[in-house]
Amino acid sequence: MKQFISLFLILFLIISCKKSETPLANKTPKHGLITKNAMVVSARVEASKIGSDIIKKGGNAFDAMAATQLALAVAYPVAGNIGGGGFMVYRKADGEIGAIDFREKAPLAATKDMYLDEAENVIPEKSTLGVMAVGVPGSVAGVFAVHEKFGSLPIEDIIKPSIDLAMQGVIVTKKQARGLKYYQPLFLKANKDSIFLNKLWKENDTIKYPALAKTLTRIMKNGKEEFYKGETAKILVKFIQDNGGIITMEDLAKYEAKWRTPITFTYDDLKIISMSPPSSGGICLAQIMKMIEPYNLDEFGHNSIKTIQVITEAERRAYADRSFYLGDPDFVNIPGEDLISENYLKDRMRTFSFEKPTLSSEISYGDVQVIESNETTHYSIVDQLGNSVSVTTTINGGYGSKLYCSELGFFLNNEMDDFSSKPGVPNMFGVTGGEANSILPEKRMLSSMTPTIIEKSGELFMTLGTPGGSTIITSVMQTILNVHEFDMTMQEAVNAPRFHHQWLPDEIRMEPNAFDSDLIKRLKKLGYFINESNSSIIGKVDGIMVLQDKALEGGADYRGDDTAVGF
Ligand code: DON
Repeated sequence: MKQFISLFLILFLIISCKKSETPLANKTPKHGLITKNAMVVSARVEASKIGSDIIKKGGNAFDAMAATQLALAVAYPVAGNIGGGGFMVYRKADGEIGAIDFREKAPLAATKDMYLDEAENVIPEKSTLGVMAVGVPGSVAGVFAVHEKFGSLPIEDIIKPSIDLAMQGVIVTKKQARGLKYYQPLFLKANKDSIFLNKLWKENDTIKYPALAKTLTRIMKNGKEEFYKGETAKILVKFIQDNGGIITMEDLAKYEAKWRTPITFTYDDLKIISMSPPSSGGICLAQIMKMIEPYNLDEFGHNSIKTIQVITEAERRAYADRSFYLGDPDFVNIPGEDLISENYLKDRMRTFSFEKPTLSSEISYGDVQVIESNETTHYSIVDQLGNSVSVTTTINGGYGSKLYCSELGFFLNNEMDDFSSKPGVPNMFGVTGGEANSILPEKRMLSSMTPTIIEKSGELFMTLGTPGGSTIITSVMQTILNVHEFDMTMQEAVNAPRFHHQWLPDEIRMEPNAFDSDLIKRLKKLGYFINESNSSIIGKVDGIMVLQDKALEGGADYRGDDTAVGF
């Protein structure tokens, strides 16, 4: 009997040790910052603080959006920007919802084959590095459109803190220093001069941005027109053309941010509100979540083999559709309602079995009846009135095209790479596209950005989003599931290890050293291809959850320097 008890104890110890290898085995809930009134969660503490202070001063979530966007352009130049674009989904305290698209556009002189050589092969780096990669920027138009429609404070109050920050300078973090070192050779390739070329900035150095402060001061005085028609526009166009680019004054003058109707769908008792095309985010998120809704994930368990299988198979099918059907809705006919209809999605999962994977080579886009024809950043805001915004903004790759306009003090995007340069040829995120996302003058390139807001029982429940290129959609989805299916706090949901499948390449990408080795072995045995080596992290999710007592809990991703600030 004694022997039996000792054996039992040893077995118990082995099982508990094994469990504690996974970060989630520790059941003590880990909460993020909790505040009573308002909160901003963004990639840098300086930007979150500027946004939160604006709300404290009496501004609303929309004022804070404008302030945080500009503060990130100063404090987080790797992705924060006025030289790029983005999307915002909002939900006002009274329940009104909407979205704005301030995505970049292809210049008027862009052509379908502009990244191909004479043999019709994609010219390496042309759509990613330097001036030809740049799309017409939308961020300044986005900030002013949001402020004009919903803002309550004068624009001076909103822009001034970012001008001051640019003048005082921003301290380089360890992660930023590592990034600057990594990108240095590319800065050299793309620029003749820039503050990032002359010196290799180290951790704890302070970088000042006087040129950006001047640009922001002119924008504060002259409004949106300054960026699109004024002195800033003239300097920008001259800089682009001197570098051999094709963006003109007419391109800038014609740019407009567009109000869009967000994608909405239900998952159990949640109402999910996410970004519509030209982002693929909302449609793909809806497709994946509706495909997995019939399965009892909470019974399967978080990151268990069955959960990973169901999610992977739904993702594979959604990304196959993404690559065929999605593009700029002003240029292509998207069968949006059909793509997210329950019947269609049920049919899409008909071939799924727990016995073995469906190979991506056996999957194509589904048959819906068409009638005709490496760095982004996310911030989430809730104000004291209950208005919420969810904004994802980008210059696409880390430091965009790496082209830095020294006179104006900012990097320009390389968003043109999000177009499909040639059908079937993957872009920098490995996603392929077709005719729907081919290049045309003034067309917006397809995005994966998925700023999302969730209601539960008619009340605000969460606002969240993330960078991560093609992995954005699946990171947002896993974070929602972590809260809803697996009862995690906002911070735990953000912390949990993530995985991703995007149809092609046919592999499950998993955060390295985060998943049980047994689980990986079993997935491989079933026939899944696993990639743990690719890039080390998947997304940097920043979200806010409304708790039962109406307090707010922030989830700021430890994978970056992300920070929640509120009061
Ligand atoms: O719009 C998109 O989907 C991409 N330009 C986003 C790029 C991105 O998230 C890079 N970050 N890690």
